[in-house]
Amino acid sequence: MESLRISRPFDAHVHLREGDILKTVLPYTADVFFSAVAMGNLKEPISTAEQVRVYREQILSALPSGSNFMPIMSVMLQKNMTPEILEQTFEAGAQVLKFIPAATSTNSSASNGVTIPELRNYYPVLAKAADLGMIFSGHWELARDAGNVEIPELERERLAIPWLRGIISDFSELKIMVEHVTTAEMIEVVKAAPDNVAATITAHHLMLEAKDVMDPSGRIINSLNYCKPVAKTHRDRMAVVETAVSGHPRFFFGSDSAPHPISAKRRIPPAAGIFSDPVALSIVAQVFEERGFLNRMKNFTSGFGPQFYGLPISQETIVLEERYWRVPESIDGIPVFMGGKAVKYQIVS
Ligand code: NCD
Ligand code: ZN
Ligand code: ZN
Repeated sequence: MESLRISRPFDAHVHLREGDILKTVLPYTADVFFSAVAMGNLKEPISTAEQVRVYREQILSALPSGSNFMPIMSVMLQKNMTPEILEQTFEAGAQVLKFIPAATSTNSSASNGVTIPELRNYYPVLAKAADLGMIFSGHWELARDAGNVEIPELERERLAIPWLRGIISDFSELKIMVEHVTTAEMIEVVKAAPDNVAATITAHHLMLEAKDVMDPSGRIINSLNYCKPVAKTHRDRMAVVETAVSGHPRFFFGSDSAPHPISAKRRIPPAAGIFSDPVALSIVAQVFEERGFLNRMKNFTSGFGPQFYGLPISQETIVLEERYWRVPESIDGIPVFMGGKAVKYQIVS
């Protein structure tokens, strides 16, 4: 029986939500990861220093007692953002400037959000982020073309590439994150970019392909597997898997664990997002083992992320043991990724 001891991992991208959902989901992140980047796309997206402080307090007070989990706070790039406001949020503890283009994903409001083409109006904000040493974390999907026609979901990440390239070439001093990569082409862009550019890979994008989510016409057939960016082709998934296990230091784990109540997942169209943290590390271990690189998992989950974020590697450890367990279908009414299935590798301490 294989067992693997690794430094306590880092989740570079998680949605912890607020209120009751926060209380439900937080232990699945905080009991496993020493730290995680808490995305600020709350119902009222975090865009001021005061909101950063309040949300941080909310997370800390929802922690299980004795926990030393360290949330990394983020602030959303919304229409109101200025270099001055960004600096205030930084002083309030925000380390990440998070960009979800307007109307592309959960709580990325059409009215207050910024589109990818509008990013050029926020260059002073990006320059300030670079000065402050903040990380610019982007959801790189282009929702509409130049004629304002909606772009099909499967094409959105690829069509964001030229815009991202522009940002990369204009900001050599800004740490840029390409969140939840799903296409072979985007992976190539990150590989070819300088060292200030890195990407996260989720557990679900190691497992899912478009056929697990939609029929060939684009109709959603399994809303529990629906997230943004939507999973792509087999070729794309293979590129994601090969890159994760390759040991490239600028590709590391970020779950994008994004809980939604079952009612929201059953809506038409369903809420986008997959609650994965209860099972994410088990999946990562399984994929690395299948490829014969279980020994590289620790860098992917616990080393490269902290390195890019300038955090120390955790001195604490967790153990994953090769032992099948059945994933719960849901936790407090929130469906869990791979619910009902048996997965190899269980966290035993
Ligand atoms: C995320 C959420 O639900 O907050 N959803 C998702 O499908 N990934 C937002 C995001 O990361 O885009
Ligand atoms: Zn996103
Ligand atoms: Zn996300």
